[in-house]
Amino acid sequence: MLRTDTPVSVKLEEYTPYPFEIDQVSLDFSLEPSETRVKARMTVRRTQPGPLVLDGVKLKLNEIRLDGKTLGPDAYDLTDETLTIRAVPDAFVLETDVTINPSANTALSGLYISGGRFCSQCEATGFRHITYWPDRPDVMSRFHVRMDADKSKYPILLSNGTPGESGDHSDGRHYAEWDDPHPKPSYLFALCAGDYDVWRDTFTTMNGDHVDLGVYVDKGQAKSAEWAMESLKASMKWDEERFGRAYDLGVFNIVAVRDFNFGAMENKGLNIFNSAYVLASQESATDADFEAIESIVGHEYFHNWTGNRITCRDWFQLCLKEGLTVFRDQEFSSDLRSRPVQRIKDVMRLRARQFAEDAGPLAHPARPSKYGSIDNLYTGTVYEKGSELIRALTVFIGIDAFNKGMQIYFNEYDGTASTIEDFYSCFEKASGKDLSQFRLWYAQAGTPEVKVEESWDAASSTLTLTLSQKIPATPGQPTKQPVPIPLRTALLDGKGAHVGVEGWENGEGVIVLEDEKMTVDLKLTGTSDKPLLSINRQFSAPVRIDRELSNEALLELAAAETDPFNIWDNFQTLARTEIFRLLDNPQSPPDEALVGALGDAVRSNESDPAFAALLTALPDIGELFQHREPVDPAGLNDARKRLRKALGENLKADAERILAKPSPAPFKPNAEQAGIRALRSAMIGLTGALDTADASRKLKSLFDAASNMTESLACLRTLVPFETAERDEVIETFYETWKENPLVIDKWFAVQVGQGTADDARRLSQHPDFDLSNPNRVRSVAAAFSMTNLAAFHARDGEGHKVIGDIILEADKRNPALAARLLTSFEQWRKLEPVAKASAEKVLKDLQSQSLSKNASDILARALG
Ligand code: ARG
Ligand code: ZN
Repeated sequence: MLRTDTPVSVKLEEYTPYPFEIDQVSLDFSLEPSETRVKARMTVRRTQPGPLVLDGVKLKLNEIRLDGKTLGPDAYDLTDETLTIRAVPDAFVLETDVTINPSANTALSGLYISGGRFCSQCEATGFRHITYWPDRPDVMSRFHVRMDADKSKYPILLSNGTPGESGDHSDGRHYAEWDDPHPKPSYLFALCAGDYDVWRDTFTTMNGDHVDLGVYVDKGQAKSAEWAMESLKASMKWDEERFGRAYDLGVFNIVAVRDFNFGAMENKGLNIFNSAYVLASQESATDADFEAIESIVGHEYFHNWTGNRITCRDWFQLCLKEGLTVFRDQEFSSDLRSRPVQRIKDVMRLRARQFAEDAGPLAHPARPSKYGSIDNLYTGTVYEKGSELIRALTVFIGIDAFNKGMQIYFNEYDGTASTIEDFYSCFEKASGKDLSQFRLWYAQAGTPEVKVEESWDAASSTLTLTLSQKIPATPGQPTKQPVPIPLRTALLDGKGAHVGVEGWENGEGVIVLEDEKMTVDLKLTGTSDKPLLSINRQFSAPVRIDRELSNEALLELAAAETDPFNIWDNFQTLARTEIFRLLDNPQSPPDEALVGALGDAVRSNESDPAFAALLTALPDIGELFQHREPVDPAGLNDARKRLRKALGENLKADAERILAKPSPAPFKPNAEQAGIRALRSAMIGLTGALDTADASRKLKSLFDAASNMTESLACLRTLVPFETAERDEVIETFYETWKENPLVIDKWFAVQVGQGTADDARRLSQHPDFDLSNPNRVRSVAAAFSMTNLAAFHARDGEGHKVIGDIILEADKRNPALAARLLTSFEQWRKLEPVAKASAEKVLKDLQSQSLSKNASDILARALG
């Protein structure tokens, strides 16, 4: 037997095609929680010389037959991870018969049990836990599935495609067949079996085809699936209108499961979702929940074309499907809601997750060239940066060429397992441009820094820009080549108008910085005083902009801006600079001019309350973290609080006025009402920033009066740091009201650790409702603490690090993917001030000495490396 305990890395350059094709496979499942029998019958054809190697992990092999004849043990080699059949003909039928134990599957990869029902998760490498198979995305096959199970326990049997024959046996068992006519890789296989309630609907495609839709949820919860269903229909329509892509099967089902490692999974015709992204009732879901459901339902649906019909050749190409599909879901949300607000939220997420990742030891290119553990590649870089690169491409080649290229991609690559090169060849065709330099974006890690310098020549009415780029060194990549950086640019007159520039249309142009350094002359079409420069409008390129502007100049620019993204971003820059100034000057009061301008900006944008709410959000500690080294998160938190308090004082009367109005009724989860509630919630937060006994009473009465989860939760969150009786009462009441609803109790855990101390995290990790086997609950304590409460997580006493280290150690025994994800919260440890840095290093080294899973070891090795 061969054992591979040391993580070996897989390399892009070592790709070789699989030497066989499997045109068709029939899978036969006899479902029992601890002993499920899986028989596979595959039709195999050789395309190149080589042995037949199949992946398989923790399978009990009962029998193998080749063209009907049982193979003896000397005909094959079995290891912990593979089955190799020594001599096979050029075309043959292979039958395998294995037994697996879904109820022992705590890693939640493969076939497992959640809430007493069978469900599956196969991406990336779960299918090898189900049966022997070439478990790689470039082997695509037509799947036929037959399941049989105890009818009383598992009345509903679902798989990919459309249903075929079904019926009852005499012994209380029943069976159902499903057929998927579209060839697919194994990672898109899915199976669900159990008792559910269903919310049904139908959709007619633009081709006139009828589709039956179903959302399967816990008994008694059908109504909570209504929003997910609305989102699904909106997604189907949007993909037809925006990209001309229709659905291609007569059935589309979504199943909600409580125990799930990620958000959701795009299995062909049978999406499986974390129940957090399906279930939403008016009373129990926040606007953020409604919004996340809409976008994730869209995301998984959009994968049907970008991921399923066109899949990835290998996992190095993951961002081919993920980056592109995130881009599509962001566009979907922008079209359904507010484009500028969506853009700001997407950039906040990018900066928090991806910029941080790119600046630390886990940095990797959007298309890596090697990996230790594929599960650890589902990152902000692959997803969010992957999306930003496509957005930058739309600016670089123009939206028309982009749309044309997408149609070339859909038409030419349908049915294939493709690469980033294939994808980009479509845009080369569409635009006539050579995109080889643009593709460097995919090969180089690190966030480019763009330095912007201006000089004004009044005599010639010309603003000369000097732009230069620098991409920081990242692990394994000490030096970088310049990439094309498309910067949307405008010149402003300070009175709300754009200044004309020769060669530009509609007062805006795109400057592409391709070399390390360039100068551009922007010659005005008329005469003017020195215009104000608005650059990287709408965040057209995922870079950091470095401009030496005084606070006065930034305030002037913020007032002149016409791009909502840049208005928001200018205030973020101002707030960040001010927080660092307060950190360095503990006695100094917050800058009145800035606080006044920010307050005014909030007031003057009240008619767009979602945008106004975003203006009140100061950069969070994770974002501030990236701008100084060594960094003291607790000090930053104090400085940030001082600024927030000043803003709360400035907006006190406005908060009272806004909160005195009733919340919109009757409740609707739409963007318009959500915007109003977002501003109300922001005012609730600022009320708490005042930190007075009066504020505590006020928050308690707002909590008592709240008619929706968004505002109840805002009150609870804001009250957590208070030391008042009202605070304790609200925590208690909230728990008593919602203790039967696990999704709401997840929030209850999360807001407490998100604002509390390491002691709170420790205490809550010992709460009777804490459950190591449920990833949502583990994340609601461990991730909510370590990823959103950096001041407490990195506190100097080291307790934050210890409590998270302890949870990771326990989690890793059952669920390596979950533990590895939690470990990434330590990624910035080297930037910490010396005391916390030492404590983080100790926890990481202690964990490393415990011989953790391959997933966790991969992160540890890189974090410490
Ligand atoms: N493809 C899924 C999605 O983004 C996520 C699958 C995550 N799988 C994993 N092994 N991390 O829609
Ligand atoms: Zn995805």
